[in-house]
Amino acid sequence: MGKRVKIGIVGLGRLGKHHAENLAWHTKDAALVAACSLVQEELDWAHDILGINALYQSYEEMLDNEKLDAVWIASSSAQHQKQIVQALDHGLHVFSEKPMGVNVAECKIIERATQLHPESKFMIGFVRRFDPSYVYAKELVERGVIGTPFLVRSQTVDMDTYAAFQVKFVPSSGGIFLDMNIHDIDLARWYLEDEVASVYAIGGSYVHPEFETVNDADNTAALLKFKKGSMAILSVSRTAFHGHDTHTEITGSKGILKIGHTPSKNRVEILDVDGVRTECVKDFYERFSEAFLAEAQDFVDCIVSNKQPRMTAQDGTKATEVGFAMTQSFGSGTIISL
Ligand code: NAI
Repeated sequence: MGKRVKIGIVGLGRLGKHHAENLAWHTKDAALVAACSLVQEELDWAHDILGINALYQSYEEMLDNEKLDAVWIASSSAQHQKQIVQALDHGLHVFSEKPMGVNVAECKIIERATQLHPESKFMIGFVRRFDPSYVYAKELVERGVIGTPFLVRSQTVDMDTYAAFQVKFVPSSGGIFLDMNIHDIDLARWYLEDEVASVYAIGGSYVHPEFETVNDADNTAALLKFKKGSMAILSVSRTAFHGHDTHTEITGSKGILKIGHTPSKNRVEILDVDGVRTECVKDFYERFSEAFLAEAQDFVDCIVSNKQPRMTAQDGTKATEVGFAMTQSFGSGTIISL
């Protein structure tokens, strides 16, 4: 390509700002040249801190900026489908945050758009696939170190930072399974190399009854049966005291891999009147900052070197299918077959 990939970002919220900093400052061969948000203060931040001059409150207007090669979508989940398809129709490369769509119909529309535009790279942001420990675990599985994997246990646990906006966020995020467990669903598919046949999900609003008012939960657990017979046990919590605690365990016929079981901030142990302890990572970004950066670099490398991204629109659809089935199972109290 011989020039920097010119990127416009949509969404400068809780996560979008981190992505924008990565693209502007830390990603080789990338130039963040445009930004779009509904929130004026966020656009001011992009101007003042990142030096971006092409600023938009209208996504459609940003797409008409002829300088752009690619769009980075970090807007609310309910916007992803429309924004992905519009960008592909403009001939742009597209990265989108998860979930790809908040239901299966949306994902199918995106899959069709990617097929219509094979010249555009499309990547869905399953960031854990770029975390060094998760990547190394995949290599060990492929080398046969634990034999044949048959069970994945994985959890996404956030520190309890309850705020009313989280309840308001539920309808546009797709709910707890699509918003949080979607990463664990993707990991289970990736490590087991199998597709989900049926799911059973339970949960409740044990700490914050407010989630029940929008048919959501603050803690959940789900059992997944896969087509070739393997299994997954996936859980979510929004109410941890100690910090962000994502971890995963893969059991195979010859051994077990545990990834991130003690979510320590670093290798320092504190020995004091309370005993022996380590401090915990506080949020998903602190835990996965390296992976978010590797993800941005990989997207740009795929464009520069004309490589296919490792996560495809099909991966996005499969994960949404399973997350949606978990939501249905939670709502109906029944096993849902896919
Ligand atoms: P947020 O609510 O903090 O920010 C949303 C941003 O999107 C705002 O800048 C808002 O102005 C913009 N936006 C919404 N609708 C728009 C429209 N029609 N046109 C232009 N801009 C629009 O959301 P947050 O927490 O930053 O999440 C953003 C996305 O990132 C979500 O899809 C979420 O699922 C995903 N996410 C992924 C994580 C991961 O681990 N990969 C972690 C956290 C969030």
